[in-house]
Amino acid sequence: MILRKMLILLAPVLLGAGFVTFEALQVSAETNRVQFPELDALVHYTTVRRGEVTEHIMTTPEAIEAIKQGHPAPNGTHFVLVDYRDDEVFRYFVMQKEASWGADYPNGRTGDWQFQWFQPDRSVNLNENTARCQSCHANRSGTDFLFTANRIPRFEGTPIE
Ligand code: HEC
Repeated sequence: MILRKMLILLAPVLLGAGFVTFEALQVSAETNRVQFPELDALVHYTTVRRGEVTEHIMTTPEAIEAIKQGHPAPNGTHFVLVDYRDDEVFRYFVMQKEASWGADYPNGRTGDWQFQWFQPDRSVNLNENTARCQSCHANRSGTDFLFTANRIPRFEGTPIE
């Protein structure tokens, strides 16, 4: 009886705590406009290896062409970093650029790129706050917010290591 009374009294507190946790998750969770691309249509232009991590980095043929000619990646471009651990996909990091997408992030603008982290099953990682992606890639404003695009002019069909 006493236990039951306690539970009734505690119920709002427990529910409230649940609500707060849920709210906190909502704040850090991040869905945005990035769509998972058709990977087969992308060109794997470089591989980065770091310890047990192997990253295959790819983009559209149109972006390869534009960057080789010294232009920024056009709207409609995806860059994908496929992060493999022990030959299994561990996660996909995706950047996508479309006209005016930067306006969604007035305080953390990275051109018109948006960023997303996808799980191996291609669902969005809702625990990720993509502001972190933006703040690091913001350091590369001089190269269209990209870290490895400077390898593209040397790319002739075999991924650059
Ligand atoms: C602390 C810095 C940092 C953070 C945070 C970061 N990145 Fe990167 N990103 C890099 C570096 C450095 C590379 C180049 C590849 C490498 O060295 O691993 C890169 C490469 C990439 C590439 C390939 C295109 C390019 O720029 O070369 C994509 C796509 C990408 N990151 C997406 C993301 C996404 C999505 C997130 C957040 C979920 C993210 N990054 C967070 C530093 C960062």
